[in-house]
Amino acid sequence: MKRIGVDDFEMSVVDRGSGLPVVLLHGFPLDHQMWSLQIEALAGRCRVIAPDLRGYGGSSLGEVDPVHGVSMERYADDLARMLDALGEERPVVLCGFSMGGYIAWAFLRKHRPRVRALVLCDTRAQGDTSEARANRLKMADHVEEWGSSKVAEMMAPKLFAQRTIDERPDVVRRVVDVISATDPRAIAAAQRGMASRPDSTALLKSVGVPTLVLGGEEDTLSPEAEMAAMAEQIPGARFLTVPAAGHLAPVEQPEEVARALTGFLGTLF
Ligand code: MLT
Repeated sequence: MKRIGVDDFEMSVVDRGSGLPVVLLHGFPLDHQMWSLQIEALAGRCRVIAPDLRGYGGSSLGEVDPVHGVSMERYADDLARMLDALGEERPVVLCGFSMGGYIAWAFLRKHRPRVRALVLCDTRAQGDTSEARANRLKMADHVEEWGSSKVAEMMAPKLFAQRTIDERPDVVRRVVDVISATDPRAIAAAQRGMASRPDSTALLKSVGVPTLVLGGEEDTLSPEAEMAAMAEQIPGARFLTVPAAGHLAPVEQPEEVARALTGFLGTLF
């Protein structure tokens, strides 16, 4: 992995291959490892850039506003600085998983000329309900006393299809280990940032770049029907579901997701 200085923090980033630049954005509270197989699969024909967002994986957290945390806009600005630091001036294919999708909306708002195409994976355009917002702020307020392994324990049952939980404990364990190792301050900062993110549904009709919407068939956090409705509002978007996968489709069915990405990228060359 490369280490680069981005404003007030040190970012760890995978930068592999050459060709069309593809940025893979991980979800909350994970790191680039959720894309391991897709990185391998795409690096033969693309430049794959998979950062650890500030505070996650090998990246330091930098300065954080104790009340507002890290906004989606700030993560998006980090990505723009990252591309500058990597010398990548071409528009990128931006692939955002869940929170990575929320960041993709912010990136589109602020850095649209840098986007060649969009992949929205197990994510949504709507902002939070007041209940979801309250739950996020509760976690943000308590995660330092709870510890990250409690967050892993709370989240794991919602992240996977039931069959993954029943039959593939190794897959679940790897994700739980990543969450448990995450700095609680990064978890709090992201929850505060997500709680205050704007609704992005007004952006859908004007996305203006080729778009793939992709989600696990059994995702309960960003359900299939919601993803389909989002895809319908984006002119020309393709919509694909991944069988036998919950929210973490790229981890549960990595080959299937890699095939979907490869197929979509093939339309862009
Ligand atoms: C994620 O996977 O990034 C989270 O489910 C996003 C969220 O908490 O809304």
